Amino acid sequence: MSKVVSYFFSSIGRKQLMGVAGLALCGFVFTHALGNYLIFFGAEAYNSYSHSLVSMPIFPIVELGLLGVFLIHLILAIVVSIYNKKSKPLTYAKSPRGKRGTSILHSSLFWQGMIVLVFIIMHLATLRFGEESYIVYSGVKMHDMFAMVGAYLKQSFFALFYIVSICILGFHLAHGLQASLKTFGIYHPETFLKFFSWIFSAFVSFSFIAQVIFMFIKFS
Ligand code: HEM
Repeated sequence: MSKVVSYFFSSIGRKQLMGVAGLALCGFVFTHALGNYLIFFGAEAYNSYSHSLVSMPIFPIVELGLLGVFLIHLILAIVVSIYNKKSKPLTYAKSPRGKRGTSILHSSLFWQGMIVLVFIIMHLATLRFGEESYIVYSGVKMHDMFAMVGAYLKQSFFALFYIVSICILGFHLAHGLQASLKTFGIYHPETFLKFFSWIFSAFVSFSFIAQVIFMFIKFS
């Protein structure tokens, strides 16, 4: 086996690749949350922004790349957690928590990811591949994303589902970011790493939640 192949089959190789994919996904959610701020400026600003994004010639390539990175992260998360379970055959009545042990938030990273996965499937099924509506601005026909988002988020069920999923995404980002950076040996000073990860995830989560609440109030 070549060195590269055996690296990706090694435990550290799998974790590092999963970490790189996780960091790329952090980049995506950050830019998605930033771009979504245009929702506060009304339908024309948001729809024009969305239209300019999807009209970029490289958009299909970026979308494919995102899907690829997402699949790598997901498949490796499953593989890594199977290996982790195999290497820990004993379950203790009381597992150590706190500084020396693993916190519940850290040990539930896999399940947090699975909930985020359900959210993303539902999110794409409704907004990316859902029923389309169009609007024309200055002679340019585009998707009326603002109305599509509003049609879902005005329903209490969807608004609540978004808020709960975004909170779980926040915990996943904070702990996943720390875990990824530690895989690359970046954990000094540890308090700064924790602070940075929590600030990052709080910014992303609060941004999305504010956008959901704004649309819920505007459309309901
Ligand atoms: C306020 C909350 C959110 C709103 C209003 C929102 C809105 C949208 C819209 C309108 C699209 C479709 C873009 C298009 O097809 O032109 C989209 C795509 C997408 N969103 Fe969200 N989103 C939100 C939160 C999230 C969160 C929390 C995640 C991740 C966990 C996420 C992940 C995605 C992904 C993966 C796509 C597909 C991107 C692509 O096709 O390239 N979104 N979102």
